Amino acid sequence: MTHPVIGWERETPVPTHHIFNDYLNARDGRLYFQDLDLAQLFVGDRQDQGLGKTLPSPLEIVYLPKIRQKIERMRQIFAAVSAEVGYAGRFHYAYASKANAAEEVVRTTLGAGAHCEMSSTVDVEIARLMIAAGRLPPERMVICNGFKPAGTDYAANIVRLKREHDNIIPVIEDLSELLPLIESGLPFDVGLRQKCYGPHQDQAEMETANSRFGMDVDNLWQAAAATAAAPNLNLKLYHAMVGSQIVNEADFLTWLKPPIEIYARLRQRYPSLNIFDFGGGVPVPMTLNFTFDYHGFARLLLTTLQEVCRRYDVPVPDVMGEFGRYTTSEHGAHLFKVVMVKENVSRLPWYIIDGSIMTSFPDSWALSEHFIVLPLNHLDKPFRRVQLGGITCDSDDVYPPKPSQSPLYLPVETDDLYIGFFSIGAYQEMLGGVRGSKHCVLPEANELIVDRDDAGRYQFQILPGQSTGDVLRNLGYIKT
Ligand SMILES: Cc1ncc(COP(=O)(O)O)c(C=O)c1O
Repeated sequence: MTHPVIGWERETPVPTHHIFNDYLNARDGRLYFQDLDLAQLFVGDRQDQGLGKTLPSPLEIVYLPKIRQKIERMRQIFAAVSAEVGYAGRFHYAYASKANAAEEVVRTTLGAGAHCEMSSTVDVEIARLMIAAGRLPPERMVICNGFKPAGTDYAANIVRLKREHDNIIPVIEDLSELLPLIESGLPFDVGLRQKCYGPHQDQAEMETANSRFGMDVDNLWQAAAATAAAPNLNLKLYHAMVGSQIVNEADFLTWLKPPIEIYARLRQRYPSLNIFDFGGGVPVPMTLNFTFDYHGFARLLLTTLQEVCRRYDVPVPDVMGEFGRYTTSEHGAHLFKVVMVKENVSRLPWYIIDGSIMTSFPDSWALSEHFIVLPLNHLDKPFRRVQLGGITCDSDDVYPPKPSQSPLYLPVETDDLYIGFFSIGAYQEMLGGVRGSKHCVLPEANELIVDRDDAGRYQFQILPGQSTGDVLRNLGYIKT
């Protein structure tokens, strides 16, 4: 197997106009995010891009147009494949906000027409704020996933939200979650979550997997019967999430096939059921040699649904995806300056950056996850193989991740050298935490939110990072 390609892998300079992927490209020795010159944000030696000043490093970039492009692209893919195979159901794009719950992200997904998928009681408050701001209109579905047993804030809050926004579909993880909905007396559409997370070849293997998510087949039928028996509940959606970042289309469908069969059997008995929700799992490029055939996946999914539904003589359902990583991975980048080069008789020279890798991208440390790393300037100079070190004193604060075989090349020239980590917009900030105190008490970086106005010009908003005082206050040294 080839290694994940995380950057430029040669000692020779990057050719002018080299295209790394669909949003990163080189021009005149600089790296551009679409047409945004990233080094210019720090050095300001070329034409102003609308920012009007330079910023200190490190800096987080939130590039909102990318989110809209991703949502639009997936809609186009499903529209094209539906037309091609003659699929009679509709496609619903939901954003799974656990991937990135920042206001500007949720606002952008809603602005692009996405439905809303949530997992906790605070998410309900976010939905409420979005409704108040007119961003979550009545026709949008709100899918309430996550554990919500009777007596929890989340269960009670879902019932409250129902009074403000009718189009809510709580997805039942466990039989016990039905009671608060029944007791509310409110007319809820309900989803049922199948226990099916992880690889499996057939229903038997799926049933015996070690997973806490969803209900086994027996419980699922009981939940369906209880829902049908409740005068105020309507069985609407079947939920079958089989994994995360599933990079092989055939595997994806092999794992979805047993749930699709169960959906069709349920549909025979409960005609109100009309949404097949495959949850998350759609992968995103986090490296430069990522390949996934999105059309191929959509084609396999829709044709499998057609084939199974034909066999059971039921209509095909609407299809919903809850896109978390896919929506938000690529809109996020984190930029650093190389502040020191240290050979230290090591196999490769250490390039030390002015921030922490392990706290900024916890998956690289915890799961050996790879992300794209490229220089922002000096791309037209020779490169050499290096290793990156964060500025904390932690031996794990390094990149590439420890067991990795992927080489990392950066320019030999390190005067004012800036680098970027890319495709880090999903989960990393949520796992590392926003605000609070971080490893080695490093303050959080400034954030630059990038958008475009109607004329296509860049618009920038700066969210200030933490000051030393913020960190000290947070740790109890400064009482306010
Ligand atoms: C219920 C549910 N839906 C959707 C998602 C989003 O998954 P992904 O980021 O793979 O799209 C998750 C992630 O854990 C999830 O638990």
